[in-house]
Amino acid sequence: MKAWYEELFENYGQQYDRENFAQGTLGECDFIERELGDNRAARILDIGCGTGRHSLELARRGYAVVGVDLSDSLLARAREKAAGQDLPVVFQRQDARALPFAQEFDLAVMICEGAFPLMETDEMNFAILRSAAQALKPGGKLIFTTLNGLFPLFHSVKDFLAAHAADGNATCHANSFDLMTFRDHNLTVVEDDSGQRKELACSERYYVPSEITWLLKSLAFHSVEIFGAKLGAFSRGDPLTTEDYEMLVIAEKQRDRPRSLPPPRSDFH
Ligand SMILES: C[S@@+](CC[C@H](N)C(=O)[O-])C[C@H]1O[C@@H](n2cnc3c(N)ncnc32)[C@H](O)[C@@H]1O
Repeated sequence: MKAWYEELFENYGQQYDRENFAQGTLGECDFIERELGDNRAARILDIGCGTGRHSLELARRGYAVVGVDLSDSLLARAREKAAGQDLPVVFQRQDARALPFAQEFDLAVMICEGAFPLMETDEMNFAILRSAAQALKPGGKLIFTTLNGLFPLFHSVKDFLAAHAADGNATCHANSFDLMTFRDHNLTVVEDDSGQRKELACSERYYVPSEITWLLKSLAFHSVEIFGAKLGAFSRGDPLTTEDYEMLVIAEKQRDRPRSLPPPRSDFH
């Protein structure tokens, strides 16, 4: 049986680009570019790239980009856009839990969750961070946005998502946040590119910042900084608060002789 995050994105390339969360690309890429400093030769890996909005914009700005995703439908749309805009991005179907890259990239990004907190177990989510760490060169950076575990302690996820629902976008119903697992369980309703309505039981993991720091430090990251994540306006000037639905994580892989990573777990599937 397919996982919800596989079914959700099937036949969804057109609809995906209309989602609210996909509207902040330029500002997000401005931030990513600032984080690269003046490394114009940087190689970038976009994990859970969806229809390639960050990959394409970064390629337009001159960077060499590889975008990976699990969804054939979203990758097809990404390749179609790359061809239409004559941009040389490589899009590959890869499972972020087991990426085949070793010390190849200066920067890995995983924006708007990407693959990370969507997996059904914490081990699977950790395998994604491990894969990202392995893909980076020594001194490389990982930038990602993910669900802020502090938010549901003070707010209702259900009310937040209801207040931010937009016409034609996916909607969530019957949310329940489990304080033992920090998972929100909900029914997500989407209409795919053929107009077919799907209702899927979904679960996403919210991480508190100290968990993220601990997970990343147990990999080869020596520095982990966490901020609030505002759609289209990522900034180091935004301290993370309980009001932020998402957080922005910037981690740097150690430069000299990275410790060997914990071995991949064979039981993550
Ligand atoms: C919410 S979307 C974000 C996409 C993109 N980063 C963006 O900002 O538009 C999550 C993406 O993660 C992909 N995904 C989910 N699980 C994955 C996995 N195990 N490996 C690779 N991609 C995955 C989905 O197919 C989807 O494209």
